[in-house]
Amino acid sequence: MTQIIRTVADLRALVRGWKAAGDVVGVVPTMGALHEGHLSLARAAKADCARVIVTIFVNPKQFNNPDDLTKYPRTEAADADLLRPLGVDVIFAPSPDEVYPTGFATAVTMAGVAQPLEGALRPGHFDGVATVVAKLFGMTMADRGYFGQKDWQQLQVVKRLVRDLNIPVWVVGCETIREADGLAMSSRNAQLSIAGRAIAPALFVAMTRAAAALRAGDATALATCQTEVLAAGFERVEYIELRDASSLDPAEGLDRPLRLLAAAWLQGVRLIDNIPL
Ligand code: PAF
Repeated sequence: MTQIIRTVADLRALVRGWKAAGDVVGVVPTMGALHEGHLSLARAAKADCARVIVTIFVNPKQFNNPDDLTKYPRTEAADADLLRPLGVDVIFAPSPDEVYPTGFATAVTMAGVAQPLEGALRPGHFDGVATVVAKLFGMTMADRGYFGQKDWQQLQVVKRLVRDLNIPVWVVGCETIREADGLAMSSRNAQLSIAGRAIAPALFVAMTRAAAALRAGDATALATCQTEVLAAGFERVEYIELRDASSLDPAEGLDRPLRLLAAAWLQGVRLIDNIPL
């Protein structure tokens, strides 16, 4: 049975019992509006852990645009219907006041991996993510945390966070789930028109071609990729960059794990994707 829990006190009472019984606890942090990508994280957690908590909390601290926060879809009942059949033990859906009570005064700020790309374009975003993830790990007392590779930079931020703050959570990065045509699943895809939805996979297609060209030593691959994405109908490319896979420093040489990351706008919707090289 999937329980919905709203307070830290209730959650902790339950988790303490699980831990006393020796159960490994997994957490899947989400902001709700769940799709197959999130469900794959819950399934991965179920496969590894005796107990699974999915958190649903639209974290105000990671939105730089108040309008975005207001408009963010809140679909808790539908989300619960998707999670129940997976055997998730708890949906932890706290109120903003439960997470950030009056007097809340602490923030996690991160340099390094949190600074380039998404960090530069969305000031304060990763500090908000790091703060809430540190809190969610503390609140749930989980042993393992599951995150999608779709948000590659976020995954590196969370890995850095647990190392830097000695948080005893093993961070698991799960493969990006794609539609049949290659488009990475995202709650934002639903904002595209039928025509936009038909254009959207061009980002992944161009990135896949660019990755092969980069491997073959083509120095013009990133510029070509950008041209292809714009020619397909995207309005604007924010970045298409090859970076060190874990530090996200600019890539130097092909002799280490690298990641090709991109953000581009289509019909006023910001899509991101990344693939290994
Ligand atoms: O990826 C997300 O949905 C959010 O950034 C997360 C990790 C749940 C933190 O609010």
